[in-house]
Amino acid sequence: MKTYTLQGPARLEGELEISGAKNATLKMMAAALMIPGEVVLRRVPRITDVVLMIDVLRRLGARAALEGNTLTMDASGDVKEEATYELVSKMRASIQVLGPLLARLGRARVAMPGGDAIGSRPIDLHIKGLTRMGAKFTTEHGYVEGVADRLHGTRVLLEFPSVGATENLLMAGVLAEGTTVVENAAREPEIQDLASFLNAAGGRIAGAGTNTITIEGVDSLSAVEHEVLPDRIEAGTYAIAAAATAGDVTLRGVRPDHLELPLQKLEDAGAEISRNNDSVRVRMSGRPRPLDLVTLPYPGFPTDLQPPMMVLLSRATGPSILTENVFEARFLFVDEMNRMGSQIRVEGHHAVIKGVERMTGAPVRAPDIRAGAALVLCGLCAEGETVVYDDGHIERGYERFVDKLRGIGAPISVTESAAT
Ligand code: UD1
Repeated sequence: MKTYTLQGPARLEGELEISGAKNATLKMMAAALMIPGEVVLRRVPRITDVVLMIDVLRRLGARAALEGNTLTMDASGDVKEEATYELVSKMRASIQVLGPLLARLGRARVAMPGGDAIGSRPIDLHIKGLTRMGAKFTTEHGYVEGVADRLHGTRVLLEFPSVGATENLLMAGVLAEGTTVVENAAREPEIQDLASFLNAAGGRIAGAGTNTITIEGVDSLSAVEHEVLPDRIEAGTYAIAAAATAGDVTLRGVRPDHLELPLQKLEDAGAEISRNNDSVRVRMSGRPRPLDLVTLPYPGFPTDLQPPMMVLLSRATGPSILTENVFEARFLFVDEMNRMGSQIRVEGHHAVIKGVERMTGAPVRAPDIRAGAALVLCGLCAEGETVVYDDGHIERGYERFVDKLRGIGAPISVTESAAT
């Protein structure tokens, strides 16, 4: 259990460096299982999810070692087919080994991940797509087991542009026989980065970043080095934090084009944004203007930035409506915010945020990664002391969270204690 203690209100000011993207790194790590050679990833964030994924790779038989921000992996030796419940229950992104294991071994046994604090999270689209590529699945005792002599290319039309399903199909397609076309594919920048990584290893993927991805199967992949793209969700969190605290923060090492809609929304709220090649400056004075916001798959507004936006809009000069379209239960943290003086009413997948002048610090509990970061941000906006109790969620997704915040003036400290 980590306990974050904050004294608010605070104004964030200064510069900070953005880390490599968690959601790209984890998928490249899964893809490394298909590569019989050394894989070197640079700019890897030192976060718990990466450590958990290293464990997954090692238990599957690959070598993996993280030094500084460089991760070296090698799956040249024998690879096992089973990712256990013990591993998958700690981090649901381990489901991304399903496509790579099927592609490499012709079989895979992976624990079903189940739901989590942001909603029910089925994997039916992953399974349907891989079935169309020739895999046969059985689901028993909480495990999904797939077999395929060799996956074959086909056309897969996704019912929803799921990030995880797009990635599993893309990875499986790389070593499949023939051409796989994924339509209504997710367009997230992390998927483009995964495709660049796989292409550098000898894959033949075109169209990643659009809604039609074409993958020509190849016989094998080989050693590769790659630098992970900047984490747009980490960058967006700090950009929103700067605006919510009426601060002035410059984010370095970012891709402003990957943050276009969040930055536009901050401008609508009254922030002044300066974009450069690889940096963004966010300045704000006074309280934000209210606005309406809808989360959607990329390039829509990211659901992972919905919780911090809820904090910003709680401070607005009028009412806002926030609609969550991606995850059904992503408003659980709202009750904690209301204990700090926010006035948010949830109706189905809409949140009506009244906008208040004053919030007050309180003890609160973090339910997941992004809501955890949002509650810390709420503590920076509130008067007095806030204590965020967190069962390790925040450090799953944010590298050096406390150091980075302190570097831009946040009065925050962290202690570790036995779980309560
Ligand atoms: C990824 C990100 C997560 C982000 C999300 C949406 C990682 C490790 N996680 O999660 O941070 O919030 O994208 O941008 O990259 N769905 C189905 N059936 C499926 C798959 C998904 O119904 O087979 C539904 C989900 O329940 C959810 C929606 O589709 O409601 C979006 O899920 P998806 O895009 O797959 O997100 P993840 O890949 O799990």
